[in-house]
Amino acid sequence: MTKPFLSALAGTISERPPFWFMRQAGRYLPEYRALRKEAGSFLDLCYSPDQACEVTLQPLRRFEMDAAILFSDILVIPHALGQKLAYVQGEGPQLPPIRNRATFEELSLDHLHDVLNPVYQTVEKVSQSISQDQALIGFAGSPWTVACYMVEGQGSKEFHHVKQLGYQQPVLFEKLLELLVTATISYLDRQIQAGAETVQLFDSWAGVLSDQDFDRWVIEPTKEIVKQLREKHPTTPVIGFPRGAGVKYRKYVQETAVTAVAIDTMMPLDWVATNLQELVPIQGNLDPLHLLTGGAAMIERVNYIWSMLKNGPFIFNLGHGIIKETPPDHVEQLSNHLKSLG
Ligand code: CP3
Repeated sequence: MTKPFLSALAGTISERPPFWFMRQAGRYLPEYRALRKEAGSFLDLCYSPDQACEVTLQPLRRFEMDAAILFSDILVIPHALGQKLAYVQGEGPQLPPIRNRATFEELSLDHLHDVLNPVYQTVEKVSQSISQDQALIGFAGSPWTVACYMVEGQGSKEFHHVKQLGYQQPVLFEKLLELLVTATISYLDRQIQAGAETVQLFDSWAGVLSDQDFDRWVIEPTKEIVKQLREKHPTTPVIGFPRGAGVKYRKYVQETAVTAVAIDTMMPLDWVATNLQELVPIQGNLDPLHLLTGGAAMIERVNYIWSMLKNGPFIFNLGHGIIKETPPDHVEQLSNHLKSLG
């Protein structure tokens, strides 16, 4: 039997939607918080295969999703390229920003796999531990989104520094994106070799760009990654998630040649059904706030999403990551409801 999640990625219309939830492993689960305390830092946890495997499996044990997503972070790539990285309680990731040639030239591909080797070991362990109808998703950040953190040095609302670098030092910025394309291909190739059955590219900040910048900083790097991964692994699906891309989603799908696309909460579902689902399988798009709130309002919205997207290949997911205050009971309510559909 083909795994339901992989079947949907291959274009099959399902009787009930296969599902997983973005950021399904993490702080909303008490068992994650306990293990996180034991591990020390968040990065230590990402680089400890036994513990990272355990955290990956925690949500599946409770909710029996159709897919596991590797426990890691999109910022392990900058870290493995030599940029210092700390996750500061309450403030998110902090990195010494790269805004000139000298700081860029300190980055190097030389130790990429030495640093990331524990991640590949985690993938191997998880792939041996999940049940035969569950699939394993590997992932990376897309070059544009990862560059945002590398240049801003932290999360951002306005993206002033990264856009300024792109406009004032275009050659340097292109070099940074090229380095990220190379590192990302190599990283995902190794995840696939270790047992990842599909990979997702998270482009969380794709929505803050003009059409031309979207073309060169989102579409072009993604297209290159998809092309090279497909040469190495022709049958491994690649899921793109250009969050906030709006009507640019269609061009993104057509030009990058991703196998499937994850849609954010803001996307109108009638537009998605007519303009996107005819091209690729769709994954999404419940507002994570519904999962925080739970109850009848959530179920009503879930039924609406299903009614709009059930006539084409569809994987149920959120439009963005689970919020850490989410009660696990609501995740259970949602999972049970999804299993009862069809
Ligand atoms: O399901 C999963 O949880 C899989 C693992 C996963 C994490 N991050 C773990 C994590 C995945 C797929 C990510 C993706 C990620 N990381 C994205 C893209 C998706 C999105 O949310 O937009 C981005 C932008 C990041 C960068 C990042 N990592 C930020 C901004 C933060 C701090 C904010 C936050 O949520 O705490 C992180 C830390 C992080 N990544 C945590 C987890 C579980 C929390 C760290 C902790 O336990 O202290």
